Amino acid sequence: MKVILFGATGMVGQGVLRECLLDRDIESVLVVGRSPTGQHHAKLREIIHDNFVDYSAIESELTGYDACFFCLGVSSLGMDEARYRHLTYDITMAAATTLARLNPGMVFTYVTGRGSDSTEQGRLMWARIKGKTENDLLRLPFKAAYMFRPAAIQPLHGVRSKTAWVQAIYVVIAPVLSSLGRIAPKYVTTSEQLGRAMIKVARDGYPKPVLENEDINRI
Ligand SMILES: NC(=O)c1ccc[n+]([C@@H]2O[C@H](COP(=O)([O-])OP(=O)(O)OC[C@H]3O[C@@H](n4cnc5c(N)ncnc54)[C@H](OP(=O)(O)O)[C@@H]3O)[C@@H](O)[C@H]2O)c1
Repeated sequence: MKVILFGATGMVGQGVLRECLLDRDIESVLVVGRSPTGQHHAKLREIIHDNFVDYSAIESELTGYDACFFCLGVSSLGMDEARYRHLTYDITMAAATTLARLNPGMVFTYVTGRGSDSTEQGRLMWARIKGKTENDLLRLPFKAAYMFRPAAIQPLHGVRSKTAWVQAIYVVIAPVLSSLGRIAPKYVTTSEQLGRAMIKVARDGYPKPVLENEDINRI
């Protein structure tokens, strides 16, 4: 598979990139980001882009791909609804709409989160916006689209969050997360399991379009 990865510098994206570079079924990885990953690998190519709601300047480089792993995203903490909607819905839909037009045979996988609200009507702002993003992604003319809803993610293999307070929390709770993952797989996955699951689903498909944390761990 030839894949495009968004959010490769973040905690989720670093984990997905690692698994892509290790996977023999992945021929090449194109990272689109606003800052370099700092990694070098024969399979890896990077485009530094500055406008994440307009891809017209780089469209010619975005064709001929089999899958997209969309790991770009932010925490809603301390953010007003308009800003969170822009960073979550507008950016994701701009990229996905462009990719669906350029690559009708593409499988699009989106990292959303446990508790996302498919009704778009609930009380939690972040969950409504993630739910609407999922619903609208599923309507685009991709070969297939899958929404991954991890709960807590245990970072492995040196993966770190870009968000300082998230990284600080993960350092403190690391020992608890590792045991919780064993006794309550509904609530914890790892950066490795998530990356492996996204690759497998992009390659082989999955019986349903929305994957909860337990699905991710089962794959
Ligand atoms: N971490 C978790 O435990 C967890 C659990 C469940 C769901 N998720 C979801 O997974 C997704 C990724 O989370 P994460 O933990 O990987 O976040 P993160 O470590 O903060 O990384 C965020 C990624 O998004 C990029 N990004 C953020 N704002 C951007 C913007 N305005 N324009 C372009 N790129 C931007 C960052 O690029 P730069 O490097 O350029 O800043 C980085 O690559 C989010 O949607 C989150 O809700 C995370």
